[in-house]
Amino acid sequence: MSETAEVMSRGAADGYDVEAIRADFPILSETVHGKPLCFLDNGASAQKPRQVIDAMRWQFEHCYANVHRGAYDFSERTTAAYEGARETVRAFLNARGDHEIVFTKNATEALNLVAYSLGRGLLKAGDKVLISEMEHHSNIVPWQILRDATGIELVVTPVSDEGEFLMEDYRALLAKGGVKLVAVTHVSNVMGTVTPAKRIVEAAHDAGAWVLFDGSQAVMHMPVDVQELDCDFYVFTGHKLYGPNGIGVLYGREELLERMPPFLGGGDMISSVTFEKSEWADLPAKFEAGTPPITEAIGLAAAIDYVTGVGLKAIGDHERDLLGYAMQRLSAVDGLKFIGTAPDKTAVLSFTMAGAHPHDIATIVDQQGVAVRAGHHCAEPLMHRMGVTGTTRASMGMYNTRAEVDRLGEALDKVNKIFG
Ligand code: ALA
Repeated sequence: MSETAEVMSRGAADGYDVEAIRADFPILSETVHGKPLCFLDNGASAQKPRQVIDAMRWQFEHCYANVHRGAYDFSERTTAAYEGARETVRAFLNARGDHEIVFTKNATEALNLVAYSLGRGLLKAGDKVLISEMEHHSNIVPWQILRDATGIELVVTPVSDEGEFLMEDYRALLAKGGVKLVAVTHVSNVMGTVTPAKRIVEAAHDAGAWVLFDGSQAVMHMPVDVQELDCDFYVFTGHKLYGPNGIGVLYGREELLERMPPFLGGGDMISSVTFEKSEWADLPAKFEAGTPPITEAIGLAAAIDYVTGVGLKAIGDHERDLLGYAMQRLSAVDGLKFIGTAPDKTAVLSFTMAGAHPHDIATIVDQQGVAVRAGHHCAEPLMHRMGVTGTTRASMGMYNTRAEVDRLGEALDKVNKIFG
């Protein structure tokens, strides 16, 4: 085999050592039904490298107390580690300041924070919030709750049959006037579609609207720079970024966060309290009531260090190679139809198979050690739009390989043998 052919068959992007990366993830040595684990459900939650596990263990063993409260050394050390994690997130998103980074429980909480808080003054009855047809329920339901409570209007911009964001329809909705906030996903959790974020912001700002991106399915696949995007809010969750669960991030533009009232009330988010009234703490504490997810923030920072150490561009190149290979391999499976074929997409493949229910497909491939997700993926309106009740979804990450794509392909051929 020539050197080029060898590289092609490995599918390795230049210098990307997927086997070394796999060695960092202890769980990838597990077996399922007697077969090596083939984990293709990274869109739901990704596995954790040893570096994240070690950072969290280190904190519990050597540097644990509550933050922002104690005058003693251990609390100060823990506060420094927690605030250091915030600085890591700031640099990761290239926000202007640490005070623009709010730690939350997950992306869902970050979205609810924005909806609840904007709804107490900055958004009024009749103002429009624009979302897209490919939103996760977490970027639909908070706005519906706000609509029912305040009388804002919810407007939905459509996607194409291929699952693309339709810029012209979006511009036409903006042109009707009244849109105060555009809240859309950066990458679809079902189809992997990458939305044209920069153009979305430009059009929204021209129309006088703020922009929020749900980056939960984006930040692990590509570099994100909130200043370059010029967005007003950006949210993501830690556990899909190879970090722990229980931690999410809200980036907000300083002047907006300053104008927004708190979401939750309690300790740490105040500067003074009497029975008559309370004063709020400065950013970002105003939005972090109660003991925060301290160890989770430190784990998230370790995950960010890990992916930035490998390089998000290199990860993206590797995953694009896997995507191309998987599209080709899965196209050879009888009766398989892709849902979502936008030209710009991450390595997320949703599909249906003639005569086989997604849950049966997922159960059969699980017998082969292959983990995929089946169902509506918390995006029921998108399922209706695409004319399906559910899909099977294989979502790949930095440690997946072409050999694992082959295993998925073979497992799907088995599905056809059973149902064919
Ligand atoms: N939002 C996660 C997914 O897409 C759970 O699977």
